[in-house]
This record gives sequence, C-alpha cells and structure tokens, in this order.
Amino acid sequence: MSEFRHRYGRWAVIAGASEGIGARYARAMAERGLDLVLLARRRDALERLAAEIRAETGVEVRVLVADLAEPEAVPDIVAVTAGLEVGMLLYCAGADPEYAPLLAGPVEPTLALVQRNCVTPLRLCHHFAGAMAERGRGGIVVLTSVAGLYGAPNMVAYSATKAFDLVLAEALWAELRPRGVDVLALVLGTTDTPALRRALVRRGALDPSDPAPLPGAATADEVVAEAIENLPNGPTWFVGDGLREFARRLGLRTRGKAVATLARHSDAAGTR
Ligand SMILES: NC(=O)c1ccc[n+]([C@@H]2O[C@H](COP(=O)([O-])OP(=O)(O)OC[C@H]3O[C@@H](n4cnc5c(N)ncnc54)[C@H](OP(=O)(O)O)[C@@H]3O)[C@@H](O)[C@H]2O)c1
Repeated sequence: MSEFRHRYGRWAVIAGASEGIGARYARAMAERGLDLVLLARRRDALERLAAEIRAETGVEVRVLVADLAEPEAVPDIVAVTAGLEVGMLLYCAGADPEYAPLLAGPVEPTLALVQRNCVTPLRLCHHFAGAMAERGRGGIVVLTSVAGLYGAPNMVAYSATKAFDLVLAEALWAELRPRGVDVLALVLGTTDTPALRRALVRRGALDPSDPAPLPGAATADEVVAEAIENLPNGPTWFVGDGLREFARRLGLRTRGKAVATLARHSDAAGTR
C-alpha cells in the first residue's frame, strides 16, 4: 500500500467531480491508489470520467448524481458511503455563474448558493471528519477564493460563502490537526475551468471557439498539484505565485481600498 493511500485512503469523496479541478483531483487520487466516490449533477460526465479512471488505474469508482444545493444531497451521500473508509474529502463545487448585483434578481438563487457552499460542506465535514479523527489520519480540502478575503460587487453572496469556506477550513484545521487529520483551505484566483469559460462566454468576455488558455489564469493541473503538495501545510494555501503576491499587496491596504481593487480586478479578469 502506498504511503499516500495509507495516510488518506481508502476512499476519497469528491464533491463537484464532473469536470475541471474536481475531475483532475479525482484522477490524481486514483493515480495514488485511492478508490473514489464522485459527486455532481451531470450523470453522463461522471460516468464517462469514472469509466476512464477505472480503465487507467484499476481503482474502484462509485458515482452519485447529487445537487449539492438541495438538502437531500447529504443523506444521499451518507447512504452511498455507508461502510466505506473515507479518508479524503475534497469540496470543490462552488462557483457562481451569475456575476450580478444582489438586487438584480430574487433572493432564492443566493440561498441555494449558501446551501451548496456553506451548509452542505459543513455537514459533510462534520459527517466524515469524526471517523478520520478516530483513525488519526485523513485529509479535507475545501476550495475557496480570493473573493472570500474581501467583499466585491456582483459577488455579494458568493464572496460571503467563500469567506465562510475559508474560515470553516481554517478553524477545522485547528481542531483536527492535533488529531492527525490534515485540513486545507485552498484559495484560488482566476482558474481556467470549463465553468469559468462558460460564464465568460455568457458575459460576452470570451469567444466560445477560442481554445487559448485564459491569460493569467491558473490551470486545474496547477491547482491540484499545489493542493496535494501542500495538504499537510494548512490551514491555508494560496495557489500560484501571482495570487500569493496579489493577496499580499491587498493585505497592505485598508479594507475599503482592497474591496475597490478586487472589484476592478474581477471586472477585468473574471476572478471569482
Ligand atoms: N474558476 C475560477 O476562476 C475560480 C476562482 C476562485 C475560486 N474558484 C473555486 O473553485 C471551485 C471550482 O470552480 P469551477 O470554476 O470549476 O466551477 P463550479 O461550478 O464550482 O464547478 C465545479 C464542479 O462542481 C459541480 N457542481 C456545481 N454546482 C453543483 C451542484 N449544485 N451540485 C453538485 N455539483 C455541482 C460541477 O458539476 P455539475 O455541473 O455536473 O454539477 C463541476 O463538476 C469553486 O469552489 C470555486 O468557488 C474558482
């Protein structure tokens, strides 16, 4: 058994696994010998990924179609993982495709965002972390964003949920580190994912047929490589030299000036 599988196995649960960062993370966990439970809304994409990973690595892969914005998702996940030794949880699903002022529409979609980005990850951490702590090993990674460091227009609820994710993971790190469980708040800046590309196309900021990498954006490969390398280096990891420098400079400003800078940057770069 590999050292990684002993430390974080046997099973990894990946919430938001059908594409982008979650799909890349799933492959990386399988390459290290972990069996997988893949969660997302699109069955076809999940089944395709599961079949490829099984063929390439031979690990066991289970798929659950779940809408993480729905309260029933958690009991479904608990049921499908009953009896499995889950040693790794990645909570990836979390982007807001809208990029609009809070008052531009009804409040309900923002409440769904709170459910998916706050309530569901909190409940999954609570469910899976207990057994990890009892075993004295395991890992939890929660994806958050530079948008969670300061508020910014057009991302009111999104920013607030990402602040929740950041602090959730940091606080959990403080509680679980002495019990042998690694927890990491993974802070992302602009990252070239299918979801961001779709959002930019909808905003008229990207030609859908343009295959070029998004300028200045991290790739899913870079995100996953840094996440794995720095899993024991919690509570917080900022992905990429550019983001680390940007966050350092933001921290030197007043909160008001940092909010204004983030707003300008978000408009220009599509950072979420
Ligand atoms: N991309 C960026 O520039 C950027 C920047 C900062 C932070 N982040 C963070 O990185 C993470 C990943 O972002 P992303 O750009 O890849 O977009 P995303 O929309 O969060 O998509 C990632 C995965 O989550 C799944 N997902 C989304 N909503 C779901 C729901 N309600 N229920 C179940 N699964 C759901 C998607 O699959 P299905 O559609 O099949 O459900 C997909 O597999 C997020 O937490 C985001 O906050 C991204």
